[in-house]
Amino acid sequence: MQPKIKKLSKDISLLIAAGEVIDKPVSIIKELVENSIDANSKKIIIKIKNGGKDYISITDDGIGINPDELELAFESHATSKLNSKDDIYKVSSLGFRGEALASISSVSKIECKSRIKSLDYGNLIEIKYGKVISKSKIASNYGTQIIVKDIFHNIPARLKYLSNTRSESGRIGQFIQSVSMSYPKISFELIIDGKKKYHTKGDNSKITIFNQLYKLLSNDLISVDFRENSYQLSGYISKPNKNFGNRSRMNFTTNGRVIKNPKIFYSIENAYRYFNKNKRFPIFNLNLTIPFNEVDVNIHPQKHEVKFEKEAEVISFIYNNILKVLNSEIPSENIKINIEQNKVISQYENTEFDQTDFFENSEEISLKKVLPILRFIGQIKNTFILCEGPDGLYIIDQHAAHERILFEKFMKIKSDENFQTLGILRYVDLGILKNQIILEKIEKFKEMGWDIEESATGEILVRNLPFLGIYKTREVDLNNLFETIILDLEANTDTPSNIIAKRLACNNAVKAGDKLSEKESEKLISDLEKTEVPWDPHGRPAVVKLEFDKLSRQFGR
Ligand SMILES: Nc1ncnc2c1ncn2[C@@H]1O[C@H](COP(=O)(O)OP(=O)(O)OP(=O)(O)O)[C@@H](O)[C@H]1O
Ligand SMILES: [Mg+2]
Repeated sequence: MQPKIKKLSKDISLLIAAGEVIDKPVSIIKELVENSIDANSKKIIIKIKNGGKDYISITDDGIGINPDELELAFESHATSKLNSKDDIYKVSSLGFRGEALASISSVSKIECKSRIKSLDYGNLIEIKYGKVISKSKIASNYGTQIIVKDIFHNIPARLKYLSNTRSESGRIGQFIQSVSMSYPKISFELIIDGKKKYHTKGDNSKITIFNQLYKLLSNDLISVDFRENSYQLSGYISKPNKNFGNRSRMNFTTNGRVIKNPKIFYSIENAYRYFNKNKRFPIFNLNLTIPFNEVDVNIHPQKHEVKFEKEAEVISFIYNNILKVLNSEIPSENIKINIEQNKVISQYENTEFDQTDFFENSEEISLKKVLPILRFIGQIKNTFILCEGPDGLYIIDQHAAHERILFEKFMKIKSDENFQTLGILRYVDLGILKNQIILEKIEKFKEMGWDIEESATGEILVRNLPFLGIYKTREVDLNNLFETIILDLEANTDTPSNIIAKRLACNNAVKAGDKLSEKESEKLISDLEKTEVPWDPHGRPAVVKLEFDKLSRQFGR
C-alpha cells in the first residue's frame, strides 16, 4: 500500500526552498529517476531522443500511483512523502516538495501511465504544458512510465538556452552512471536514440560498476567502511596510482542523495594528495550515512546541495578516515601521515587566515596547514596571484608567499647538506662594529649553509650563500642583507637562525612588481601548499580569501 498523496498546507509549502526546479533535460531525468527510486523500483529504464530535448521516457517497476491520485500528483505541493512541518527536518526520501511533476508538466507534454499492484489495470493521464488533456483506464504492467516531450516549447526563451544534443546526452549519461553506482541494487538501463548505451544488473555489486565504467578491478580499489558515533562512511576509493584527470569520477552521496559539496570533495582530494603528488583526482563512490535530522536537504531548489548541522565535524570525519584508510593500505615505502584527529577541523577553520587566531594558537598549529587545491587564474599588478579555490577566490601575495617558502627551505638547510649554492666571492665591509656583530655569529651562519669567514683585514668574506635556484635569480645585495640581519639581531626579535633565514628569504624572494609566468605562478602555488602555514615569516598573511558565499550576498544573490 502506498502512502496517500496530499496537497501540502500553505505553511509547509512556504518552507520549501523555492526556485527553478527544471532548467535542462537532465534535471527532468534526475527528478523522475528519484521518484522511481523513492517508489522502491528494482528496474528503471531511461530512454532519450535528441539529448532529451524532444523525448524522455522513464519506466519503473515501483509501487505505482493510485488511479484517483494520478491527477493530484501533477499539482504543485502535492506529495505522499511529507506529513507535517517537522518531517522536512528529517526527510529520508529523495523527494519531499511535491513540486517536480508539477514543474515538469508545466514546461512539456506529458503522458503518465501507472498501475499499482493491487489492481489489474492501469491509468493514463495526458497533460500539455500544465493542462490535463485526457484521462483513461488502460492495460499496463505494474509500475509507472512517464513520457516527457517537447520541453520548453511553450517558453522559447528557455528553449534557446538548451545545449547541443551531445552535451545534454553527456550530462544525462553522467547522472545515470553516478546514480547507478550509488544504487547498485537497482538495475538501470539507458537508451539513447534507440541504442542501449548503458546497463547495470542491479546485483548489488559496486565493484562490477567500477569495472564497467572506469575499468577498475577490485584490486585497484580500497574499501571504505567507517563508523564513528552516528556517522558512517562507506564505499570505495581508487588506489592513488589509479586516478583521473578531472573530478568527474568523484561520486558522493549523503543518505543516498547525490550531492556536490566542494568542501567534502576537497577534503578527500587533500587526503589523497599526500599519496598522489601529481594533482590528479581520486575515483570514488562514497556514501555518508548521517542522522536525517542533522542534514537540511531543503536548501537548494534542485536539491544538489545539503547543509550539515555540524559541518566541521562531518568534514573532519571524512578527511580523517580517508587518510586513515589510505595510510593503512599504501605499502610502507610510501609516506605515512600522523594526523591528530581533533586538530583536523582547525584546517578548515583557519582557512579564514585570521592573524590573531594564528598567534593565539601558535604552538598548537603543529599540523601541516593544507591549502585546498587552487586553480591559477592570473597575476594582477605583477604583485598578486589570483586563484580559484573550492569556496572562494584566493589572492596570494607573491612576495609574502615566496618568502614563506624560502624561509622554510633555508631553515632546513644544514651545513653538511648538499645544496645548490650561489657561487660568489665577495668582501663586505660594514665598519668594524657591524662586521663584528656578524662575525660573532659566524658559526650560526655556517650551520645554515653559509660559507663565510673573517678576512685577514677584519672584513666579512662571503664565498657562498645557500641558494635554491627557484624563480627569479637576482643580484644579492649583501650589504643590505647584512644590515637588516644586524638590525634584527640588535633588536633581539627572534633567534639568530630564524633571523638569518628570514632575511635571506626576503632578499631572495620575488618582489612585488616581478612579472611571473603561468608556470612560475603555479610552482609558487604548489610550493606554498606544502608550507606549514600560509604566512610570511614576519606574520603577514600570504593568502587572503574572498568567500563565494560573501560575494553572493554582496551581489544580492
Ligand atoms: N515513479 C513513481 N512511482 C510512484 N509514485 C510516484 C512516482 N512519481 C511520483 N510519484 C508520486 O507523486 C508524488 C509527486 O511527485 P513529485 O516528484 O512531484 O513530488 P515528490 O517526489 O513528493 O517531491 P519532489 O518535488 O521533492 O520531488 C510523489 O510524492 C509520489 O507519491
Ligand atoms: Mg519527486
